[in-house]
Amino acid sequence: MKNTYTKPNLNTKYFDDLFNSLPSMEGKTVAITGTTSGLGFYAAESVAKLGAKLLLLNRPSERADSSFAKLSDSCSNGDLHKIDCNLQSFESVKSAFSKVSEMCTDGIDVLCNNAGVMALKDKATIDGFDVQMQTNHLSHFLLTKLCMPLLEKASQLRNEARIVNHSSIARFQAKKLKEKFLEKKGGNLGGDGGNLILGGGRWERYAQTKLANAAFTACLHEKLQKSNSKIRAMVAHPGLAESDLQSTTVEDGGMGSFFTKYLMKFGQSEKDGTLGLLRCIADPKINSGSMVGPGLKGMKGKAKSFPLEPFYDNPTVKNMLWIKSCEAIGENFEI
Ligand SMILES: NC(=O)c1ccc[n+]([C@@H]2O[C@H](COP(=O)([O-])OP(=O)(O)OC[C@H]3O[C@@H](n4cnc5c(N)ncnc54)[C@H](OP(=O)(O)O)[C@@H]3O)[C@@H](O)[C@H]2O)c1
Repeated sequence: MKNTYTKPNLNTKYFDDLFNSLPSMEGKTVAITGTTSGLGFYAAESVAKLGAKLLLLNRPSERADSSFAKLSDSCSNGDLHKIDCNLQSFESVKSAFSKVSEMCTDGIDVLCNNAGVMALKDKATIDGFDVQMQTNHLSHFLLTKLCMPLLEKASQLRNEARIVNHSSIARFQAKKLKEKFLEKKGGNLGGDGGNLILGGGRWERYAQTKLANAAFTACLHEKLQKSNSKIRAMVAHPGLAESDLQSTTVEDGGMGSFFTKYLMKFGQSEKDGTLGLLRCIADPKINSGSMVGPGLKGMKGKAKSFPLEPFYDNPTVKNMLWIKSCEAIGENFEI
């Protein structure tokens, strides 16, 4: 059946108050993945309006071009830079990083690992990993590893830097992180069936990626604290926010349009979905080791800060995630 899903167009309630409370980001450099739509787009627009130099890491497409034009229009004084980065390919991430490093000799103040896909078919990337796990976690793991010297540099020069990951309430659905989802088994990880209520392969793979995002934050936080780094690691979750995430899933056959339309009435606008991300990027009150969202399991509302949760912030999960992620990218990541 043709995709007939259209977003419900929910009212924004809290975004302006949060935005107006944030300090200037002049003199800072922020790199964000996945800014062609949704939460990444509004996070990018906000950061540019707060005065930071902004690097937009997106895979090349018409969506990337038109969103860049839209951002350039709405932030006419913005210092915006487009960088090609397809998170389905480690080579693309490496070449994006070489451009980032040429452009950021004074370091990066914030790396925001935002981009993501949800409940797509069981497909392998060019590198052999699950398309969701590589896009949502493994390529961000590689990007973070590559950017670490630039983050350290900014933290030395300007007294702090941040790594911001983007998780989801779907992390609870995963319950336990499983090794096989981090291995070169793309295309053989549960098939194309499943729906949001009953689970199934598509949704299990998504939930694993979002648990990986939270566990990665826990690993970074622990390692950065042990090395006395001034880099903070934090993770946002947006609750349920209308964006192109759901449209893409509906188009791929992972959710029915009728059900999605009904479900999204319980969510919040794209702008309000950006609150957690924006607090992690720019709010001085958010400490390393925080999960920021509308309640730990909340679907909408103001973003509050919580400690990371023990079901992934524990030695077994953290060791496994780190070892398997290093194996996947074929490099050690030492902090
Ligand atoms: N919306 C929600 O309710 C919700 C809930 C929980 C978590 N999240 C998380 O929020 C984050 C942002 O999602 P969103 O809701 O804003 O969805 P969205 O509107 O679909 O935005 C996703 C972004 O990720 C980019 N992306 C996808 N695949 C990519 C690739 N291979 N390389 C580079 N960029 C890629 C997309 O770019 P293209 O134009 O190239 O596709 C787009 O810019 C995701 O991590 C998602 O898991 C969202």
